[in-house]
Amino acid sequence: MPTDTAIAACLNSGESLADRILKVNHAGEHGAVNIYRGQALICRWRAPSLLAELEEFRRHEEGHRAGFTAEMERRGVRRCRSYHLCGIGGLALGILTGLCGKAAVAATTVAVESVVLRHLEEQMAYLETADEDAYRAVRTIVEEERAHHDRAAASVAPRGFWWRLVLPTVTLSTEAVIWLGMRL
Ligand SMILES: [Fe+2]
Ligand SMILES: [Fe+2]
Repeated sequence: MPTDTAIAACLNSGESLADRILKVNHAGEHGAVNIYRGQALICRWRAPSLLAELEEFRRHEEGHRAGFTAEMERRGVRRCRSYHLCGIGGLALGILTGLCGKAAVAATTVAVESVVLRHLEEQMAYLETADEDAYRAVRTIVEEERAHHDRAAASVAPRGFWWRLVLPTVTLSTEAVIWLGMRL
């Protein structure tokens, strides 16, 4: 999973690739917290039936962020430069998709969590032998991310306009943010 560019960026900054992975995941979790926060804000009046689940997911994401914060503090690693970009972008995405309704909310979760799960698998394949502590920090969150994905995927039928619009857009944006985070 580590690309040459990402490795070169790490070597230049004096941090290990595992450090960088933790930083990018930490920033991503901050983004996820804010997506669910933004969606909950709007769904309070737009789709109240979603509120309990969105708040449950937000609490999970806060737990994931706290786990990465703890591991980064233990290593003396500072947060990623993409941290605030993730936070602001996540909140904007949450509000926007909340306004578009239930299908857009579910499509956002499916898109984000699919990308996240793919990256987590790649990260774990690398970290398993490279860095045991970072591996453990990443592995801890996988089951909850998978549950977010599966619950959102099961919640919407039929998959109409918003689904087809939001799914590829959010997938691409999430990939772009991770790509950027690995290089900042
Ligand atoms: Fe998460
Ligand atoms: Fe999640």
